Amino acid sequence: MAHAPPITTTFFLSFLLVAIFSTTTSHAHNITQILAKHPEFSTFNHYLTTTHLAAEINRRLTITILALDNSAMSSLLSKQYSIPTLKNILSLHVLTDYFGSKKLHQITDGSSLTASMFQATGSATGTSGYVNITDLKGGKVGFGSEDNNGKLDAVYVKSLKEIPYNISVLQISQVLNSEEAAAPIAAPSDLNLTVIMAKQGCKAFADLLIDTGAKTTFEQNLDGGLTVFCPTDALVSSFMPRYKNLTAARKVSLLLYHGVPVYQSLQTLKSSNGVMNTLATDGANKYDFTVQDDGEDVTLKTKVVTAKITATLKDEEPLIIFKVNKVLLPRELFKAEPEPVAHSPKAAKAPKGAKSNKADAADEEADAPVDDSADQTADNENGVNKINGGKLIWMVLSLCMGIFFV
Ligand SMILES: *[C@@H]1O[C@H](CO)[C@@H](O)[C@H](O)[C@H]1NC(C)=O
Ligand SMILES: *[C@@H]1O[C@H](CO)[C@@H](O)[C@H](O)[C@H]1NC(C)=O
Ligand SMILES: *[C@@H]1O[C@H](CO)[C@@H](O)[C@H](O)[C@H]1NC(C)=O
Ligand SMILES: *[C@@H]1O[C@H](CO)[C@@H](O)[C@H](O)[C@H]1NC(C)=O
Ligand SMILES: *[C@@H]1O[C@H](CO)[C@@H](O)[C@H](O)[C@H]1NC(C)=O
Repeated sequence: MAHAPPITTTFFLSFLLVAIFSTTTSHAHNITQILAKHPEFSTFNHYLTTTHLAAEINRRLTITILALDNSAMSSLLSKQYSIPTLKNILSLHVLTDYFGSKKLHQITDGSSLTASMFQATGSATGTSGYVNITDLKGGKVGFGSEDNNGKLDAVYVKSLKEIPYNISVLQISQVLNSEEAAAPIAAPSDLNLTVIMAKQGCKAFADLLIDTGAKTTFEQNLDGGLTVFCPTDALVSSFMPRYKNLTAARKVSLLLYHGVPVYQSLQTLKSSNGVMNTLATDGANKYDFTVQDDGEDVTLKTKVVTAKITATLKDEEPLIIFKVNKVLLPRELFKAEPEPVAHSPKAAKAPKGAKSNKADAADEEADAPVDDSADQTADNENGVNKINGGKLIWMVLSLCMGIFFV
């Protein structure tokens, strides 16, 4: 950048803005803005924001919103549901497929079952997160929740906005009733973390939390907000030989490393790239990892492995549990990747304030040649992703300026 010709601050800033804008906004629609043009949907719009559903909607690439006007919303609100329950009810009105008004009238065999975002929260059991769309007599289209005894509560009214095949916003006449979506949501302290995890493919991890007592620390953080990154049973089982080699205290640290003491929705994680403290963090720069939005994926980088969020197992504010595709290995306990350039490996590896752990960690690693290949993969990934944050913006910036000066 030093030899770039001098340009005015205004140009500089606009390039910077372009660079930032193009790296942070990958979605093409904004439901809040779409609905803002229709004042008769202001209540619905307000609650999409309050429940954080708006952000989830904007993140999705193919989606249909069944919008409720202010009078339909006021009959829903008169039932005085809590915000988490309202979120479930409204998420039943967000379909994870594209239905333009035309497609509505061309449904194969006249009827279809479509998954809603309620289905995706993990709160719905069986088919209760599905919406039945059926062509009725006289050109009408009926909508009903699948757990509503075959009753179609609402009919299609009109189309508000269609951007094929990204987002479609259709007005329906009434709220879709669903006993399951409207069920009162357990108070946070009633949420049994290990039971929830065990039910959804994270039993091995839950058992480790119970065995070590690390569960208590997770539970103590539940009321204030808790995010858990849970490796699935198969991952934990193949990790067991290395896990067993850790001292009791280190086992606990490793487990606590998979929890973050604040509620972070997928959308928040995507937009808040950077260092994240964990339940194992004790002092600056310890037991943290870096969150990075990688296009459609969110990755967690520990400097030893790069894990990816693969699914949301439970999302019920203040608790959210994600599945990850790797056990998160903190650099305090496992060997960090060798620095490719300049620095001596030792200096590069030592994280600030973690000196006392360093020798032990190296010993453990020396004793564990078994997983070298796995580490190697992680090293490569980290190497590739070394160009990040500030560097990326500078690169985009130079590129922009290059184009400008051609
Ligand atoms: C649909 O979304 C994709 C991906 O965000 C975008 O590239 C495309 O321009 C959008 N289509 C329209 C018509 O806005
Ligand atoms: C969507 O639009 C609203 C209102 O203009 C704005 O406050 C919000 O930041 C926008 N969201 C995104 C993700 O751009
Ligand atoms: C949708 O509901 C209607 C009316 O209860 C029913 O006849 C139809 O079979 C349902 N469609 C599907 C795909 O389940
Ligand atoms: C969670 O459920 C397990 C098994 O039913 C039980 O032993 C434990 O006490 C429960 N924990 C809480 C906090 O309710
Ligand atoms: C565990 O430690 C033992 C003794 O130090 C060593 O022989 C073994 O290779 C280690 N196993 C793993 C998987 O790290």
